[in-house]
Amino acid sequence: MIVRRRPVFGLWISLALAAGCSDADLTGPLAYEEQPGMTREVDGKSHLADKPKIREKARAVLAKLYGPNPKEIHVPEGAPFSKDESGTVGGLLANHLRTAEGPKRLPHAGGFALYRRHCLHCHGLSGAGDGPTAPFVFPPPRDFRRGLYKFTSTPNGARPDRDDLRRTVRDGLHGTSMPAFEALLTKEEIEQVLDYVTFLSVRGETELALIEEGFIGDDEDPDALEDDVVADLTSAVFGKWEDAADKVVDPPVARTPSSPESVRRGRDLFLGRTKEKLECAGCHGVKGRGDGKSFVDPDVFNRVVFRGDPSKMAERVAQLDEPTQELWKQKLDEWGNPLRPANLTVPVYKGGRRPIDLYWRIAKGITGAQMPAHYPGIDHAQIWDIVNFVLALPYQPELLEEPGVAAEAEAVRR
Ligand code: HEC
Ligand code: HEC
Repeated sequence: MIVRRRPVFGLWISLALAAGCSDADLTGPLAYEEQPGMTREVDGKSHLADKPKIREKARAVLAKLYGPNPKEIHVPEGAPFSKDESGTVGGLLANHLRTAEGPKRLPHAGGFALYRRHCLHCHGLSGAGDGPTAPFVFPPPRDFRRGLYKFTSTPNGARPDRDDLRRTVRDGLHGTSMPAFEALLTKEEIEQVLDYVTFLSVRGETELALIEEGFIGDDEDPDALEDDVVADLTSAVFGKWEDAADKVVDPPVARTPSSPESVRRGRDLFLGRTKEKLECAGCHGVKGRGDGKSFVDPDVFNRVVFRGDPSKMAERVAQLDEPTQELWKQKLDEWGNPLRPANLTVPVYKGGRRPIDLYWRIAKGITGAQMPAHYPGIDHAQIWDIVNFVLALPYQPELLEEPGVAAEAEAVRR
């Protein structure tokens, strides 16, 4: 068991933009949005709806740990942020940097300022994925507050490695509205913004942990959410981020060079024609078009998601027949958004098109998006065969159109 140093209360470093340090962009009050469980019950999840005293404690704990509002950032001890030039953990978060020569004010740099300028309109002030642009894009921007990220090199459900987040911000997520920031931000600025994304994640995860802990507590208990309980909660949250780098999945065998034989082996695995009976086609379709039978029909999906006012999607869902509504509910992602399997006949991959990117997608799945991990169900060589098949398919659609192949796969599915 790993014993962690507990974050000590009262030792946080305040990166507050102290009153008087005016920042022209920071007009008006800025407040974090609370997660629903703080005040109401949603889908049977933990909540503090009937625990006003614990709720107030949870609010106070969050304000103490992370600052009362986005203008005043606190860095709890042990938090997984990087250091600035002066060695201060979390020094990249605020609108100023601590340098060897002393504090350097950067009105338009620092994690918070860059985030506000480049990311907030999609990802929202609290990282809830609800910025003003969010209703107009599909898929919707990520809600950072659960610490869950789709395109990682770490096991399904684990926190992302810093490199994973860096790749997303630098290269964007192809085929979605998540832009590539390589040309817009310097390397240093990308690091600053990554720290801020991590800040919003751990803040959100701490909030959820407080709600869960408070939910099982008694509102009259004076010791509820006391310091050492909170210290345990935060060290669990930070620990997951610290452990991520050690969890990166490195394929132990080199990629099998692509060859017609390897591609065909990958094809047969994809279609579930081998003894492992993989389910790829059930989701991605027997022709790889993203129209597998276990998901809602693509025409229905497109009608509900794209035809009409985005804020009225729930009404369109309510008009579907009952079995389709049921299937719809089962096929939401972890954040409650409608989900579509990728169309593999088009060479656009959100998480990157390098063989290693596809290796990760197949071996360890896509967190929060129902695409399961396939290792250890199949071995590394088989994963590379599937990677070779996936990379070949857009240019050789006949792989899934040979007489008998599709029909046979279709029959297996019935
Ligand atoms: C125009 C809207 C938009 C802007 C601006 C934007 N994003 Fe995103 N971002 C998205 C969308 C949409 C997704 C989710 C795509 C998906 O789930 O397929 C996303 C996902 C992400 C993810 C999660 C990746 C994963 O593996 O789950 C990160 C991290 C991220 N964005 C960071 C940023 C940062 C940092 C900025 C600013 C520098 C930014 N985004 C600006 C739309 C945007
Ligand atoms: C239970 C359903 C399911 C199964 C089984 C499944 N996938 Fe997926 N897959 C998805 C979904 C859903 C997405 C899209 C996730 C997203 O965009 O958020 C996806 C995305 C992908 C992507 C795109 C990754 C990217 O970066 O955009 C590839 C490639 C892929 N799957 C290949 C496969 C292969 C190969 C198999 C079988 C070994 C497989 N999938 C099995 C549901 C599934």
